Amino acid sequence: MQGKFHWILGCGLLCVSLLTASAQDTAKPADPGGHQWWQNAVFYEIYPRSFADSNNDGIGDLNGVTSKLDYLKNLGVDAIWISPCFPSPQKDFGYDVSDYENIDPMYGTLADFDRLAREAKKRGIHVILDFVVNHTSDQHPWFLDSKSSRASAHRDWYIWRDGKAAGQPPNNWISDFGGSAWQFDPTTNQYYYHMFEAAQPDLNWRNPAVKDAMFGVERWWLKRGVSGFRLDAVDTLFEDPDLHDNPVLPGKNAFGDAKEENKYNDKLPEVHDVLRQLRKIADEYDAVLIGETWTDDIAELNRYYGDGNNELQLPMDFLFTTVNKLSPAEFRKQIAAVNGASGWPTFVISNHDIVRSYNRYGDGEHNDQIAKLMAGLYLTLRGTPIMYYGEEIGMTTTPPARKEDVKDPLGITGWPEEKGRDGERTPMQWNEDENAGFSKATPWLPVPPSYKTHNVADESRDPDSILSFYKKVLKLRHTNRALLNGDYIPLNENDPNVLAYLRVYKNQAMLVALNMSGVEQTVSLDLSKSGFSSAAKSLVATGNSAAIGHAVTLDPYGVFIGQLTK
Ligand code: NOJ
Repeated sequence: MQGKFHWILGCGLLCVSLLTASAQDTAKPADPGGHQWWQNAVFYEIYPRSFADSNNDGIGDLNGVTSKLDYLKNLGVDAIWISPCFPSPQKDFGYDVSDYENIDPMYGTLADFDRLAREAKKRGIHVILDFVVNHTSDQHPWFLDSKSSRASAHRDWYIWRDGKAAGQPPNNWISDFGGSAWQFDPTTNQYYYHMFEAAQPDLNWRNPAVKDAMFGVERWWLKRGVSGFRLDAVDTLFEDPDLHDNPVLPGKNAFGDAKEENKYNDKLPEVHDVLRQLRKIADEYDAVLIGETWTDDIAELNRYYGDGNNELQLPMDFLFTTVNKLSPAEFRKQIAAVNGASGWPTFVISNHDIVRSYNRYGDGEHNDQIAKLMAGLYLTLRGTPIMYYGEEIGMTTTPPARKEDVKDPLGITGWPEEKGRDGERTPMQWNEDENAGFSKATPWLPVPPSYKTHNVADESRDPDSILSFYKKVLKLRHTNRALLNGDYIPLNENDPNVLAYLRVYKNQAMLVALNMSGVEQTVSLDLSKSGFSSAAKSLVATGNSAAIGHAVTLDPYGVFIGQLTK
């Protein structure tokens, strides 16, 4: 997966009542078009370390998140995905879990989580947790027991093998975090397998006891009122039991290892049995499963939806994150591909592992306008958008300047070629106060200088800000049936500069026109086949972008969203 980073440079009465509510709501369509809640929802990823620090220790926490629920509601967010907040040694900032059924004290308590879930529910916001299914922390009691002796009760919960020869790992598999994926443990003279950091040993999903334990964890949180999970690194759950060597590819990765095709330790078919079982449990609670499924292959994406859509509701394809230029042709291709897939599309432009969209698409001059353009695109498509905190205010990726400042294990090992992911995990910029209003203490990562110009307080007051634009589009999305459920109909498919499309639901149509160039564009729209003949009534537009008759004039990087009638 490291290669993918490189693409782009607690329970009382409350639980009983939540549980009852969930069970009653099971798979209730959210709208007249038969869509489920997660199809109409706008998701928002929160990296809890960096969102809001309520106790002023420099690290964000759950009470901090609770304090910002009104902000999120007002923005137009319907579901929050909280990156791991479970007890963890924090070697990979929570993706190394040492107890799946608790909250790390640095983030609060189970009571704090319950309060967050309760307050979110009051506001109609679903809470999604990040389920780290592939591996645990090496400090998890399961692993501590597993490594203690070859005969321990949990030995076979992880993947232990003898070396090929003295001092040689069992095979050539490399870790996504650099070096061999095998770690020798002198206590029992065997190696254990880790796809990620050595501190993140892979679970052995071929062991039924592991499955039972993890399905138990899933149920435990669903009973507590969560509305689903983002399944971390789910494609790497299984490995070839015979440990064939992976084919070696030309070149070296950022860590100096020979590149490999992950033929024998990634995307093995056995994962689908597990997904079906996880889904069965999720369905009992009308919960959603979002998959961290890095794929650009539609056949594979379809396999993740499952036969009869019985696996992941929202497998993330990350196709948009592979288009790192403003290219209507490239976006058209990716939209058509996911629209042709067998399940409901998911759109993501940024997350905690990749360079922020503001930097990837920005040209250095029109970055704010381009940030609105990208919002105008992925928030108006047919599918569920997953936002990343700070994207709505134009936060930038700000990588550390010196190796000694790096916190991410990936950057520590990979420096300088791989600077790690600290840059896209900096504190949320709330206002112009010290530390951008994130904390009164020194934040765990420095606040980028851009907080002076890009912050929630200032942007809330400015009707032309990125934040105000997000709010307008999200409001429209929530109130307009065509934007929520309408079909996607591409227009002017050969235009090299303007990406235009309709979203059509019964006799309503929304026109979206996006100028992906730095010069003004006027395009005459061919609506002949759509059955809509009226001129578009402007609903959201940037600058002077406007429709005149069947033509649209767009400012450089301009956005026009308007309503058509029959
Ligand atoms: C994917 C997560 O998004 C990433 O942050 C983490 O380092 C790896 N999985 C390992 O859990």
